[in-house]
Amino acid sequence: MSAHWIAPSILSADFARLGEEVDAVIGAGADLIHFDVMDNHYVPNLTIGPLVCEALHKRGVKAPIDVHLMVRPVDRIVPDFARAGARFITFHPEASEHVDRTIELIREHGCQPGLALNPATPLDWLDYTLEKLDLVLIMSVNPGFGGQKFIPSALGKLEAVRRRIDASGRAVRLEVDGGVKVENIQACARAGADTFVAGSAIFGSPDYAATVRAMRAQIAAL
Ligand code: DX5
Ligand code: ZN
Repeated sequence: MSAHWIAPSILSADFARLGEEVDAVIGAGADLIHFDVMDNHYVPNLTIGPLVCEALHKRGVKAPIDVHLMVRPVDRIVPDFARAGARFITFHPEASEHVDRTIELIREHGCQPGLALNPATPLDWLDYTLEKLDLVLIMSVNPGFGGQKFIPSALGKLEAVRRRIDASGRAVRLEVDGGVKVENIQACARAGADTFVAGSAIFGSPDYAATVRAMRAQIAAL
């Protein structure tokens, strides 16, 4: 795994052939499998849950599963995803009654906790949490759907979080999620992101490996 991780979001995969799609993106050089969980409550869409995560895990998928919870409440479902083979579990602070408790819960269940910040969510949420997190996810679209347009204010936010992570001295991944493409991935990397979620840009392209290679080339050309 390189310092920069590409995390295809299976939200844009062909769900009728999910196992093959996941194998294909891993074969194309993906570092993480980004797994979007939506509940038709916290976000206006409904996707996949722990059973699908477990099925991928049991298939022997050879990349860590990066679970992005867009659900409310959060805590009830955390142990299920831990059992289902998740590596990272990321949640939205607005969706949890007790953010610190949720972070602890994820850690206690042997997973790596992440906090996701929506476009209008301030960075204040990191004040008392960053020291306990393994990942910060900056949303560059409003959560709920794939294929939306990148919101440019995410770049300034990434820069600010990068400064905070560096000052903390801890190894915390900085992930950007939403509208990331070959054309803007370099700007995200320049702003300090090291983990790049891309759904439609990868699964909507005819050659997954060529797209992942083009993304890596953009990052390397920084
Ligand atoms: C949006 C999801 C994203 C989404 C990204 O709520 O969290 O992970 O799948 O899709 P693209 O890359 O198409 O914007
Ligand atoms: Zn996501």
